[in-house]
Amino acid sequence: MLNFDFYNPTQILFGKGRIADLNKVVPSDAKVLLMYGGGSIKKNGVFDEVIAALGEREVSEFSGIEPNPTYETLLVAIDLVKTKKIDFLLAVGGGSVIDSAKFVAAAALFEGGEPWAILEKRGSNISKALPFGAILTLPATGSEMNSGSVVTRRSINAKMAFNSRHCFPKFSILDPSKTFTLPVRQIGNGAVDAFIHVMEQYLTYPVNSPVQDRFAEGLLKTIIEEGPKALANPEDYDVRANLMWCATMALNGIISTGVPQDWATHMIGHELTALHGLDHAQTLAIILPSMLRIRKEGKLEKLLQYAERVWDLREGDENACIDAAITCTQDFFEEMGVKTHLSDYALDADCITPILAALESHRMVTLGEKRDVTLDISRQVLELSL
Ligand code: NZQ
Ligand code: ZN
Repeated sequence: MLNFDFYNPTQILFGKGRIADLNKVVPSDAKVLLMYGGGSIKKNGVFDEVIAALGEREVSEFSGIEPNPTYETLLVAIDLVKTKKIDFLLAVGGGSVIDSAKFVAAAALFEGGEPWAILEKRGSNISKALPFGAILTLPATGSEMNSGSVVTRRSINAKMAFNSRHCFPKFSILDPSKTFTLPVRQIGNGAVDAFIHVMEQYLTYPVNSPVQDRFAEGLLKTIIEEGPKALANPEDYDVRANLMWCATMALNGIISTGVPQDWATHMIGHELTALHGLDHAQTLAIILPSMLRIRKEGKLEKLLQYAERVWDLREGDENACIDAAITCTQDFFEEMGVKTHLSDYALDADCITPILAALESHRMVTLGEKRDVTLDISRQVLELSL
């Protein structure tokens, strides 16, 4: 096992009716900025519950945060925080809203010039951030219990990630019943994103880490079992609860302790979203199966373990088991309603060169757990994804 440093200070309040507990976790004298997206929280009653729970506190609002939040939008929020002297941010929504709160929290106190520098330095220049909490309505990204965030600068089509130990939510409220209103597309996206977060941390090479491996395999198997149930019975609370906790556990730092990590699929996926607007999970569902096929040799032992333990494929030739496991993975994404080819999104071979150019300009030229995913490998992956 590799050395590691585990830190995660986020308090999780999980279960039905927990929004009422906001009153206990937001300081009573806080000047709150309530941040949200395009209005789903107004339709499903979450907004009203939040306002009621905040009681007498001074609350301002910042709405209209788009999926794949933009730097341009968040600059407006940063201004608002400064002019209204906001001292607590409350993100209510999916990963896009929570990621936005992280960026605004850091940028509002940033003394290093233009806030874009935070993205350029991937967060290493953050020395403080405003406190913030989250109410999660879309289980997918794990943003509710991690310190990462992804922001897109529309003017230059750059989607960049940063993280900082100052950017963990103080708390996150996870009420699975608030996910009943998710559109089918977002149920599928959420399951696929969480699944691939686990894969990025698990499917590398063995370092004798049975605890992490079995945690990861447990998460993968649970997502495979529960995901289709959420599509079939959208108001099954237990199914939603299990999926929600899977998505959080998939990217809160626990399964990545002491193991190598990949993330090449995510880096290529971010460029696809920046250039073509695909949903985050759609990009991953396209890239991961080809990534595993192209890099089969380097991932052989873990692929075999994955085939055996996650898909119960242990009979016959090792290579055939691995191929079958990758096919099962791709079929699972399709079953969740997330298409797995570039052509399903009206993209053809012409999209490949610009994606490679973007990867190069963002210094994404030696990706993966062994830093051996060159631009040439990325090209092969994209070609196989057509
Ligand atoms: O904007 P509203 O109206 O709220 O609608 C949202 C949005 O249109 C809707 N939605 C959310 N909860 C709902 C709901 N609709 C009905 N009922 C509910 N309960 O869902 C749509 C998508 O929301 P979004 O927040 O964009 O989705 P997601 O949670 O998948 O977040 C994606 C973003 O997170 C980043 C992605 O790159 C992308 O920008 N990621 C963040 C990570 C992190 N912080 O660790 C890691 C991930 O790998 C990922 O990169
Ligand atoms: Zn992701």
